[in-house]
Amino acid sequence: MALHGLAKVRIGVPNVAETIAYYTDFGLRPRGDGVFATRDGGDQLEIVHAPTRRLAELTIAADDPDDIASIASRLRALDLPVSVEHDSLRATEPSTGTPVCVTVRPRLIVDPVPSPTPYNGPGRVERWGRAPFLTRTDPVTPRKLGHAVLGSTDLAAAMRFFTEGLGFKVSDYMGDRAAFMRCSVDHHNVLVMAAPVNFLHHTSWQVEDVDEVGRGAQTMLDGHPERHIWGLGRHFAGANFFYYLKDPAGNFSEYYSDMDAIGEDELWSPDVLHGMAGLYSWGPPPPPSFLQPDDLAALMTGAHSAG
Ligand SMILES: [Fe+2]
Repeated sequence: MALHGLAKVRIGVPNVAETIAYYTDFGLRPRGDGVFATRDGGDQLEIVHAPTRRLAELTIAADDPDDIASIASRLRALDLPVSVEHDSLRATEPSTGTPVCVTVRPRLIVDPVPSPTPYNGPGRVERWGRAPFLTRTDPVTPRKLGHAVLGSTDLAAAMRFFTEGLGFKVSDYMGDRAAFMRCSVDHHNVLVMAAPVNFLHHTSWQVEDVDEVGRGAQTMLDGHPERHIWGLGRHFAGANFFYYLKDPAGNFSEYYSDMDAIGEDELWSPDVLHGMAGLYSWGPPPPPSFLQPDDLAALMTGAHSAG
């Protein structure tokens, strides 16, 4: 009886057709009308029109209607409006204005579970002859939506919504500027970072292993060098291998593999990480546009003229 992951993101963009083409190249399965499926998680992305890029809706999966009822009462205790309908509720994250839906969904079952990729090491041979990734010719196709990252002008309000309201747990902090939060065994499903404007930083999509992170990125960059943002590297928080790319609307999308899993809350202590060491363990240095996307100023201007 709990939340068990992200079900779906709806992303609003001004250039729908171009963005749909990008996520098709990214390996998500087009299902028509801007909806995309992952291999294991079903329909997990929807691209819709919006005047400027934004997270148009975040849907979170819960086990049963009791979860919906208890989340609704916690949100009301925070003086946040909530509407409950059957097996789902709708609310608005108060700092970014992001519409959030919590809905009952079956837990994701991976069947059959793929065999672990064999890697040789000192004194042990797990594979003989040529490496198995050499024979992979199918396009990289993400297994599931892992996490979404938001910039928020009010980090404390966003954290209160996700933790006290929805029941997320904090896995790690980046100083007092960001919090990695989970609603599943994954190290993070939502990361909110303090920012001068509310915006969607990235969505992240799980692939099989580090070879698929690299192979997927290489395919995306072939003929599209403008898609490159940052990678290949390994994060410190969450420990996942990563490669970040940019969609034609300016949202980043990440291939990741091998993220830390937190099975029992008692066996994990949140750390407060500082500086670049908190951001990544190894890899090329992040470009300035990773932390401050090139369109932030334009988004701020848009936010001001709209509000
Ligand atoms: Fe990420």
